[in-house]
Amino acid sequence: MAAGEQLLKVQSVETYYGNIRALAGIDVEVKKGEIVSLIGANGAGKSTLMMTICGSPQARTGSIIFDGQDITKLPTHEIARLRIAQSPEGRRIFPRMTVLENLQMGAGLDNLKYFNEDVEKIFTMFPRLKERQSQRGGTLSGGEQQMLSIGRALMARPKLLLLDEPSLGLAPLIVKGIFEAIKVLNEKEGLTVFLVEQNAFAALKLSHRAYVLVNGKVTMSGSGKELLANPEVRAAYLEGGRH
Ligand SMILES: Nc1ncnc2c1ncn2[C@@H]1O[C@H](COP(=O)(O)OP(=O)(O)OP(=O)(O)O)[C@@H](O)[C@H]1O
Ligand SMILES: [Mg+2]
Repeated sequence: MAAGEQLLKVQSVETYYGNIRALAGIDVEVKKGEIVSLIGANGAGKSTLMMTICGSPQARTGSIIFDGQDITKLPTHEIARLRIAQSPEGRRIFPRMTVLENLQMGAGLDNLKYFNEDVEKIFTMFPRLKERQSQRGGTLSGGEQQMLSIGRALMARPKLLLLDEPSLGLAPLIVKGIFEAIKVLNEKEGLTVFLVEQNAFAALKLSHRAYVLVNGKVTMSGSGKELLANPEVRAAYLEGGRH
């Protein structure tokens, strides 16, 4: 889908953990209908940026505008209500609840009328979850938990889907399936996605645009294609082959 108007604007954002500055003045923009990815080494601040967008921790300086509204100082639950859904690093599904119950938790009260329709959509996307809908989340395999985490975020009918390392620890075939699902959601439904990935090759290939984060600062940005072809990006993030 062609990118439209601005959905998210992160401007001069600094985030601290105590005295340690994890984000050192970040400017990032996501337009409606885009897939944008954020790549960078361990500890660069990728998860911190995702979490700062969701309000925990909050930005100490700068501003975050979502869909025309300043959300910089809003509490996390109010940000979620604006339809920003996050599939956090390490999945964080509810381990004692079944697959179906986890999906219910994602839907929220506003979306209960769409529940059956939305669950069916997620089961079509991830048939494995349908087979295992009565199984407890904590006993699913890593890949299945990742599917559940993404499915749960989608149940919120998000305007913006934040995905932190959807490929972490997963077999290449599962990664391929998950990236394909993201692409289809974007193309068919116009879902806007902001994605953090260690798997830079897969992320850049999927994304309309991308940012490179180094030590809490954006050092490069461009289209997915441009960054894939960029020698510095290739040397730092794409050596060692394709995934
Ligand atoms: N709760 C915390 N308290 C103190 N420091 C933290 C905390 N969370 C993260 N940090 C530090 O902030 C920096 C950025 O961490 P962050 O988790 O955002 O990196 P990342 O880019 O997501 O890395 P990775 O690829 O390993 O997930 C790191 O130096 C990290 O040690
Ligand atoms: Mg991280």
